[in-house]
Amino acid sequence: MSQATSPATARLEMPDGRTVELPVLSGTMGPPVLDVRKLYAGAGVFTYDPGYTSTASCESKITYIDGDEGILLHRGYRIEDLAARCTYLEVCYLLLNGELPTRAQLDRFVHDITYHTMVHEQISYLFRGFRRDSHPMAVMIGVIGALSAFYYEDLDVDDPHARMIVTHRLIAKVPTIAAMAYKYSIGQPFVYPRNDLDYASNFLHMMFAVPCEPYRINPVMARALDKIFILHADHEQNASTSTVRLVGSTGASPYAAIAAGIAALWGPAHGGANEAVLNMLKQIGSVSNIKSFLEKVKDKDSHVRLMGFGHRVYKNYDPRAAVLKASADEVLAELGHRHNPLLEIAKELEKIALEDEYFVKRKLFPNVDFYSGIILEAMGIPTRMFTAIFALARTVGWIAQWNEMIQDPQQKIGRPRQLYTGQKERPFVPMEARG
Ligand code: CMC
Repeated sequence: MSQATSPATARLEMPDGRTVELPVLSGTMGPPVLDVRKLYAGAGVFTYDPGYTSTASCESKITYIDGDEGILLHRGYRIEDLAARCTYLEVCYLLLNGELPTRAQLDRFVHDITYHTMVHEQISYLFRGFRRDSHPMAVMIGVIGALSAFYYEDLDVDDPHARMIVTHRLIAKVPTIAAMAYKYSIGQPFVYPRNDLDYASNFLHMMFAVPCEPYRINPVMARALDKIFILHADHEQNASTSTVRLVGSTGASPYAAIAAGIAALWGPAHGGANEAVLNMLKQIGSVSNIKSFLEKVKDKDSHVRLMGFGHRVYKNYDPRAAVLKASADEVLAELGHRHNPLLEIAKELEKIALEDEYFVKRKLFPNVDFYSGIILEAMGIPTRMFTAIFALARTVGWIAQWNEMIQDPQQKIGRPRQLYTGQKERPFVPMEARG
């Protein structure tokens, strides 16, 4: 049942003089929403909104963003509090179940996730089909999509227990697959998960351990990585989440829907920005080159963007970027990188950009991708793995939103319409009469 209330009605005057009444829906927070569902049936018109800048595609209770104020809430809790006081799996539980877990609930959840960390041995053979230099995101799309071939038979998406197993499997196995993609790319043997480790430590172990010597997990790195996972866990109806919902709305395998989400995340306008930021900082090379780089960004003909800046929803500082900026200082100090040249360039770049009229006028602020790559690189994680780590962390958001969609009685197959501007109907032209 919808929890939205409809306290008001909007009146739309059509060019032909008719008046159409549209219910105005109110959620618990955020702007009111014009309910246009009956518009076509009642008035014979569509709405037009490429890029969905003014369109609410669903009702949701998971995440709320106030872009003007720079506020991000998961199930009502501020991201800053969750990042400072929770573990990633605690936040996963919250996103999936709506409440923070008790100690007993969390212990049970951690057990359920770790139980599923291994992948079917046959999956390791799939990797051999990829070139060693394949991008990890390309490998992730392929291998996560292939989970459908291992776990899809008899999967009834309307059965809550079956959905819970899918959820646990995905959260547990995506880190294993991401680490396997890395190991494959550098020609090292796959490292099996260790269920005695916490989620982030286990990922570091699968990434960096080798069979011939012991690997000691640095707890500072593990906590910083866990925080990065928390900050990327969900972000309401962004491009990849909307993709997962759209694919899922057809009744497709949830593994295929998540693979589609990974594909959407890969683009540089979305999750691929973290990799692009680091490449950009390296290309700038020194603080003295920042001014000339920003001139290029401001020149529309150059098509150069300041990666890690700007956001469709935030017209203020992205709260996740603020947490990461502070975390970058802590982590680099702990790892002995007190004078990290990339962090110095990033901070100076931010300072200059935030005072520059071009960025001020357009309300462009650092987003989550601006500082995350600097931390990941200091941990020894290669640039090409950055977006795969984003995908790993976002899997819980995608699957929480998929679960919500499946249970929503208003859910229908996603099927937008269009503003057609092509040829009107015309008589067929036979080959000999063409040209
Ligand atoms: N550098 C320079 N100019 C920019 C930037 C940027 N990073 N972002 C937006 N603009 C300008 C843009 O050229 C336009 O200017 P004008 O009005 O003169 O034409 C104006 O700001 C509005 O931009 P837009 O493209 O209409 O905004 P959007 O909401 O469609 O795009 C965005 C949002 C995130 C795609 C964009 O800001 C961008 O490309 N940023 C760089 C890539 C990036 O960091 N992406 C990560 C986003 S956060 C994490 C995630 O979503 O995964």
